[in-house]
Amino acid sequence: MLFGNMVEQYIWFDGKFVKFKNANVHILTHSMQYGSGIFEGIRSYQSNGNSYVFRLEDHISRFMKSAKIYTMNLKFSEKKLADAVVATLKKNKLKAAYIRPFAFYNDQHIGLGVSGKKISIAIITVPFGSYFANKEKGISCKVSSWQRINSMILPPEAKASGNYINSIIASIDAQKSGADEAILLSQEGHVAEGPGENVFFVEDGTLITPSREADILMGITRDTIIKLAEYNGLSVVERNVHKEEMYTCDEAFFTGTAAEVTPITSIDSRKIGNGKVGPITSMLADKYYEVVSGSNPEFKDWLTKVF
Ligand SMILES: Cc1ncc(COP(=O)(O)O)c(C=O)c1O
Repeated sequence: MLFGNMVEQYIWFDGKFVKFKNANVHILTHSMQYGSGIFEGIRSYQSNGNSYVFRLEDHISRFMKSAKIYTMNLKFSEKKLADAVVATLKKNKLKAAYIRPFAFYNDQHIGLGVSGKKISIAIITVPFGSYFANKEKGISCKVSSWQRINSMILPPEAKASGNYINSIIASIDAQKSGADEAILLSQEGHVAEGPGENVFFVEDGTLITPSREADILMGITRDTIIKLAEYNGLSVVERNVHKEEMYTCDEAFFTGTAAEVTPITSIDSRKIGNGKVGPITSMLADKYYEVVSGSNPEFKDWLTKVF
């Protein structure tokens, strides 16, 4: 199990290092009952004996924006939190990790109200590999019957714990029907994103991805891929995408901190292109790994050195 080898590790908890087994909360904790927390997902990568966190400042900045949307006063500056991420990786001697900053109402009560309630922040670091088992070969997707949340219901741009119950129900249904992952549409019926990934399509050599108006999380990997595609001479269009356009595109892939660049080779049982990982997807995945591992000096500003 994932945490079997974690007992010797530490979690940064409200400014102190706490042993993994002691980083616990009460069963009545508000955020556990109601999903009233915010979080981030960040990765660090190992390369030639060194280790770098990828786009740490951008992730912490999004964490602060999520807190602002929910009026959570975090009591730690962006700099303190970024330093705490690096310190936790060092303390745990982790070179390639998934990093989960998490802020939550750490108060035990039945009522919904959060005014004046205690907020805790934890930073958890775990060893982590591929998010999808068959990532290299490409995955199958099913368009969900569940709509993506929209900002009249819950702000999709905040990375809030409660949002993920929408993602979870879509994933459950996709997997029960035999697909690897779901793709959710927006309330307007346009393609939005995966449960924890942004989505891209290739049509006649152009990269197309749903825009902010499609109720997506503004992914940091999405932004990375847009910049890398443009840097490598591809044209990128952010626009509405119809469901049927996905079926006839040449290539499709997901992006995300966990998913990295994951090729999609079928959607609703229709093969994407020839059903194999496409050349533009492969090229962008290679460029992505070059950048995150520190092998491309052009993009070194995105890396924070740990070791
Ligand atoms: C709903 C959702 N969309 C997209 C993404 C991809 O975002 P990022 O690339 O910043 O990890 C994630 C993952 O954080 C997500 O949870």
